[in-house]
Amino acid sequence: MDTIIENEMKAETNLDSQALLGISNFSAGYDASLILKNVDMVVPRNQVVALLGRNGVGKTTLLNSILGLVPSSGGSMTFDGRAVDLMAPDQRARLGIGYVPQGRDIFPGLSVWENLNVSLRVSGAIKDEAEGRLSEVYELFPVLKDMLKRKGGVLSGGQQQQLAIGRALLLNPKLLILDEPTEGIQPSIIDQIEDAIYAIKKKGNMSIILVEQYLDFAKNASDRFYILERGSIVQEGSIDKLDDDLIARYLTV
Ligand SMILES: Nc1ncnc2c1ncn2[C@@H]1O[C@H](COP(=O)(O)OP(=O)(O)O)[C@@H](O)[C@H]1O
Ligand SMILES: [Mg+2]
Repeated sequence: MDTIIENEMKAETNLDSQALLGISNFSAGYDASLILKNVDMVVPRNQVVALLGRNGVGKTTLLNSILGLVPSSGGSMTFDGRAVDLMAPDQRARLGIGYVPQGRDIFPGLSVWENLNVSLRVSGAIKDEAEGRLSEVYELFPVLKDMLKRKGGVLSGGQQQQLAIGRALLLNPKLLILDEPTEGIQPSIIDQIEDAIYAIKKKGNMSIILVEQYLDFAKNASDRFYILERGSIVQEGSIDKLDDDLIARYLTV
């Protein structure tokens, strides 16, 4: 009797402590050039993990590997309890991996509403659920609601970034991947994106990987950090451990 209860308790603890994304001894690259070397990384459930490093160290390549756009050359990757290394990008997306690429990537010729509606259709959300998700996105980024008829291409860079994040959120991912969301964006909109991350955290059903060069933003928004250097993880820890020494050593140019 005791052992059954004990085993059940153990099983429950394991589930609670199970990471959303686990990357182990992972290597990947393009054709002949190996970029990522023996990367170990864990994204806990409902946490924001900053992925930091200078230009060209492999941050976007790692994100693309998580999405399935860059094939694995070794190691393992699990998402939500499943091995995903060999899965196609669309399969991974269906499991709940959402992406906002570097430099956004909205449809410039479609209106804001059409951009959002593409995601809603892909998500398969209907009526109440779709309305609910839309109103959450409008609450995070009110400007989108005011500009539904505008073409995506005429929005400011910051508004396009908000649209790109909004579009990803409509798919209700378990993991949201943001590649340099503040790049080239004015401070007032950076604040709104930071607030959106706080709101997502508060809701408590989504993890975020944040690739970011703007360190104040990364520090405020994240729980943990990893630093990449020439394709390998060289430092990691709780975000309060990201001190000036580490910044000078690995992050400043
Ligand atoms: N599509 C590609 N084909 C070949 N090499 C690439 C490709 N994309 C990036 N690289 C190379 O991979 C390395 C890492 O790039 P990237 O992952 O974009 O770095 P980061 O996002 O940290 O700036 C760089 O040396 C870059 O030139
Ligand atoms: Mg990059």
